[in-house]
Amino acid sequence: MRKRVGESGVGSAKSDSHVSEKEERGTSPGSVTTRSGWWAWMKRGLIGFFVIYVSAAFAPRLFPGVVKFLVYAHTVRVPFFTDLSRPADLSLNHTLNMYLTPEDGITVAVWHTVPDSLWEEAQGKGPDWYKESLANGAPIFIYLHGNGGTRGASHRVGLVKVLSATGYHVLSLDYRGFAESTGEPTEPGLTTDALYLYQWVKAHSGNSLVCIWGHSLGTGVATNMALKLQEQGTSVDGVIIESPFTNARHAGKNHPFAWFYFRFPWFDYFFLDPLKDNHVFFTNDDNLRKLKIPLLILHAEDDLIVPFHMGQELYDIARSAQNSEERVKMVRFNKELGYVHNGSYKDPRMPAIIREFVESLSS
Ligand SMILES: *[C@@H]1O[C@H](CO)[C@@H](O)[C@H](O)[C@H]1NC(C)=O
Ligand SMILES: *[C@@H]1O[C@H](CO)[C@@H](O)[C@H](O)[C@H]1NC(C)=O
Repeated sequence: MRKRVGESGVGSAKSDSHVSEKEERGTSPGSVTTRSGWWAWMKRGLIGFFVIYVSAAFAPRLFPGVVKFLVYAHTVRVPFFTDLSRPADLSLNHTLNMYLTPEDGITVAVWHTVPDSLWEEAQGKGPDWYKESLANGAPIFIYLHGNGGTRGASHRVGLVKVLSATGYHVLSLDYRGFAESTGEPTEPGLTTDALYLYQWVKAHSGNSLVCIWGHSLGTGVATNMALKLQEQGTSVDGVIIESPFTNARHAGKNHPFAWFYFRFPWFDYFFLDPLKDNHVFFTNDDNLRKLKIPLLILHAEDDLIVPFHMGQELYDIARSAQNSEERVKMVRFNKELGYVHNGSYKDPRMPAIIREFVESLSS
């Protein structure tokens, strides 16, 4: 047994003598094997970790699929055991599940939740009733969620409930590649899906206000689509961006994932350049330099995924671009509240915050 310890080349003279002492005291040989085995495994583990650490750095450069996964995380279908075609299971009992076709071969899933006050009337109603209800005068929100998971994630359902209870319609979209929506996510693809939903809503909404709510990655989709519409000579009535980032490159650099690689040589080359190579930009900063829209920014000070200073930076950009204190607003959530990246829907002031924004649009 002692020989084996020596062979492994790890046991120092000190530990060797320790082992022999143990043996003299009649400890079973098994404990010696365990000791040297522990070292061998530890070594293998460390080498393995190092190999994974280094090769993971190459992965985004080599495989576009990895970049796609890191950006969109669309294959993570949380919650796992929910039938998204039955929103009532998530106590959205006044919600229609429907599918739109933004492009040939692409089908995207959308929930239409009517204002809370209509929940009883909504029971047993089909697509026609829901579509007609869009013109009932209640403001409408198109909700563009962040990366990972589906429209059924609890913080997304939570926000839909807040908006509905405040008296608004909500259309909650799963972009291409997310949930049961077909196709693969790309930046222009997500923007196309959102624009298509917007046009569909506008075709049925009469004179009702139509606003966009983007969260996290969805803020990039929101400003992309608002800019596209502005370039076409129309305009959304208002945009709320929650936990927004300045652009994909900055977001990548500040993402917790990057903490592991912060001191890695050529970090930009390995992790940030692949974003550009895969046409992932999501330039909220540039978009807000051009946009002329009523804007509300929501950000929690303790956001760990997208740091608070990015929301602040966007606020400064939009405020000077629009040269208006009235049209550009920001609400910060104190870090003591613990909302981090996705919890601000829980704030008791939220309905009032949204109502104030919406009322400012029609005045
Ligand atoms: C349906 O949803 C509304 C609004 O959220 C709620 O007030 C009501 O209690 C729900 N009804 C049932 C039967 O679950
Ligand atoms: C909200 O984000 C945190 C990370 O900040 C994550 O751990 C949590 O799962 C998210 N919550 C939901 C409901 O997705």
